[in-house]
Amino acid sequence: MMSNYFWMNTNKMIIPVFILFSFLFYNCNTTPYVQGKQLYLSQCAHCHMEDGTGLNNLIPPLKGSTITYSEEMVCLLYNGKNDTIWKDSTFLVKEMPAFKNLSTTEVTNIINFLNHSWMNNFKEKTIKETVQDLENCIKR
Ligand code: HEC
Repeated sequence: MMSNYFWMNTNKMIIPVFILFSFLFYNCNTTPYVQGKQLYLSQCAHCHMEDGTGLNNLIPPLKGSTITYSEEMVCLLYNGKNDTIWKDSTFLVKEMPAFKNLSTTEVTNIINFLNHSWMNNFKEKTIKETVQDLENCIKR
């Protein structure tokens, strides 16, 4: 009798356990920063390229850039950047749009995705640090 009950219970457990495991495997992506990756692909990759290598003199590479680790990074995304360079006898406008509509969580996720994908000695940035960087940026 006991074994009969036991069998029935495990049987009922099979479906939820299966669903749980499928979920775990589904989420086992190459990067833990899935939202950061999606935002990078939709907001940044058309300029900086999917692999972060940039575009000649016009768009700097993010792969290997130390800026992504600095406090400057949050400020850069918040304000954008606009330099004009003199090249081949013409002025080239290098324009990086501002991303004021991104939340601090989204910004943190993008930065962690970038650093996790392309930087050595990865150290996770916290949302708290991003909030602090943003406050410093606005104060300036
Ligand atoms: C419209 C094209 C465009 C888009 C979209 C864009 N960028 Fe940029 N980004 C640029 C340009 C151009 C520069 C150089 C700006 C300058 O030097 O004046 C730049 C500079 C940067 C830099 C500084 C790199 C360095 O080494 O100086 C970082 C970091 C960066 N972008 C990250 C991002 C991220 C993250 C996103 C998405 C949220 C993004 N960019 C979206 C064009 C773009």
